[in-house]
Amino acid sequence: MAKLAIIGGTGLTQLSGFAHSRRKDVATPYGKPSSPLTYGELAGCPLVFLARHGEKHTIPPHQVNYCANLWALQQAGVERIIAVAAVGGIRDDLGPAVVAVPDQIIDYTHGRRNTFFEGELDQVTHIDFSWPYDSALRAELLTAGRNVGVPLIDGGTYGCTQGPRLETAAEIARMERDGCAVVGMTGMPEAALARELGLDYACLAVVANWAAGKTQEVITMDDIDAALKDGMSKAAGVLVALVAGMA
Ligand code: HPA
Repeated sequence: MAKLAIIGGTGLTQLSGFAHSRRKDVATPYGKPSSPLTYGELAGCPLVFLARHGEKHTIPPHQVNYCANLWALQQAGVERIIAVAAVGGIRDDLGPAVVAVPDQIIDYTHGRRNTFFEGELDQVTHIDFSWPYDSALRAELLTAGRNVGVPLIDGGTYGCTQGPRLETAAEIARMERDGCAVVGMTGMPEAALARELGLDYACLAVVANWAAGKTQEVITMDDIDAALKDGMSKAAGVLVALVAGMA
């Protein structure tokens, strides 16, 4: 049984080198996940792949059914999740096509269902979320990067905005003052829901563009696509090295 899942984001709706054997549509008490669960092997390691924005990349960040996605993965027997996410770079060392393994989160989203612990509860529950990412999984990603010769930035705060629009320059300046290194739209509630279900979760953040106001240039989809292509191929190399160590 696959104990590892990869949630692919923008630029990674498919995983190259992933030999898939079975696709499964899953129903959950929270509705349908973004895509069928795809079972297969990467470098000989069994894993489950889920496309966060749908297989055709049609679900925007604020409409992703995070609860259904995480629930479906847990029901499938998954214990560890690598979330691949496109982000904007805020800190100076986080330019386009750089790949980072964040260690903190600030949540700026609103109106998203962000917990399993509501409704008919036996007991009010507060999970510890001081360190939102699993430290062992982060360390394995960093080692995989070293082994495959892909430089990875170790740590940094992922600021999660609501989207789907990009931020204003003032919003990014505020996030920089808050200590954010990168900005994305999908890191929350995904990370918190994984923790609520007891799943180990780490993020591989691929910088698609400088965040708003960090350059004079207008952010175009063409520039984002080019940086993502480069960054995602580095991320894919890291994933192969990571799972090769687990196979
Ligand atoms: N902001 C938010 N999310 C993103 C960005 C950005 O600049 N780039 C890629 N995902």
